[in-house]
Amino acid sequence: MRGLFPGTFNPPTIGHREIILRAASVCDHLYIGVGTNTLKESTLFSFNERKAMLEEIIKPLKNVEVITFSGLVADFVKQNRIDVIVRGLRSVSDFDLEREMALANLAMEGVETLFLMAESKHINISSALVREIGKFGHDLTVFVPEEIAGIISQRLSEI
Ligand code: COA
Repeated sequence: MRGLFPGTFNPPTIGHREIILRAASVCDHLYIGVGTNTLKESTLFSFNERKAMLEEIIKPLKNVEVITFSGLVADFVKQNRIDVIVRGLRSVSDFDLEREMALANLAMEGVETLFLMAESKHINISSALVREIGKFGHDLTVFVPEEIAGIISQRLSEI
């Protein structure tokens, strides 16, 4: 099964890493798709920065590949013969939006979405939380993978 875990990853967190690891164990090949949520304000980290951080995280995983995409997730999935979209669910607050997107992707292109429940220790982590804490120079290693914590802190100290 070929899966796609799409997201903004602005920046990636240990919550994202958890979903990547678990999705990689159920998919033969997993793409991590760095996209843009046009409903959000512009991203702090560029496409290339987000891709490079994810590549650091997935280094030990042989069946995972990071790609960037523009446009609709559903179109990308169809064009690249991907079988399923993978998304993490942290809490009920994620549910409504995820249901809306999953059903839209199903209606548009017949694309299924596989949901993985985030482990409870990660349900309060978000990229916005990381950006906020990092701006004040606090250590980020409880929220982001250690190998990218330095890059994220450095970048946040520049804004
Ligand atoms: N652990 C930690 N944080 C998580 C998480 C997890 N398991 N799952 C989600 N999040 C957080 C993210 O950190 C992010 O936090 P932020 O809002 O504070 O920055 C937030 O949840 C949602 O981010 P993400 O999962 O990256 O999704 P998104 O809403 O930014 O992007 C896409 C959704 C994939 C649809 C969008 O990026 C995209 O590619 N859009 C293209 C157009 C499209 O197809 N739209 C859908 C039409 S149906």
